[in-house]
Amino acid sequence: AEQKATNVHWHEGDITREHRQKLLGHKGATLWFTGLSGSGKSTVAVALEGVLNEMGVLAYRLDGDNVRLGINKNLGFSAEDRTENIRRIGEVAKLFVDSGVIALSSFISPYAADRDQVRALHEEAGMDFIEVFVDCSLEAAESRDPKGLYKKARAGEIKNFTGIDDPYEAPGKPEVHLRSDQQSLEEEVDEILALLKARGIVS
Ligand code: PPS
Repeated sequence: AEQKATNVHWHEGDITREHRQKLLGHKGATLWFTGLSGSGKSTVAVALEGVLNEMGVLAYRLDGDNVRLGINKNLGFSAEDRTENIRRIGEVAKLFVDSGVIALSSFISPYAADRDQVRALHEEAGMDFIEVFVDCSLEAAESRDPKGLYKKARAGEIKNFTGIDDPYEAPGKPEVHLRSDQQSLEEEVDEILALLKARGIVS
């Protein structure tokens, strides 16, 4: 989206990201969970948040409930709206990382180009962006159907439903590739934690 405001500049304060990192005892980072509806993105994020909290690590989840009902309530599910949804969430996640928090972002984010934009936004600022592909077959997601949305999509009551009549572009090189229809939740959380430790984000 174009920048409408001119003569606007980032104002540097006295307290830097490094100060906040020292205060909290860990780095900020964005964990970007992507996958089909019903793949288990939020489930993994919730479990991970619990473990991080136990470790004294400050994490905050961004997902449909606090984003699509709030800051993005004017957006639907057209390709343009999904792109704008992800762009805004990417900017919000970046602010969380700057504040020192581990942002756990769970959105379908079906377009690879949109996810790559968010990655670039982070990496240009020297921030960790960890893409977590919550891979799950359409059959498994559809058989779970926690909100009954696949059923509605199959019946034609919801149009442009991801995986049914709208695309999902799987990540080519995610930092973490989970198979939520084959792995246990504990295994999934352990895999992400191992990466956070290897990257020196938490200890
Ligand atoms: S996106 O594509 O990243 O902008 O989508 P997201 O913000 O993650 O929202 C997905 C949730 O919205 C519900 N929903 C739909 N999903 C996909 N396609 C269509 N058309 C649609 N309409 C509503 C659905 O419950 C998704 O929830 P999750 O949590 O992913 O299961």
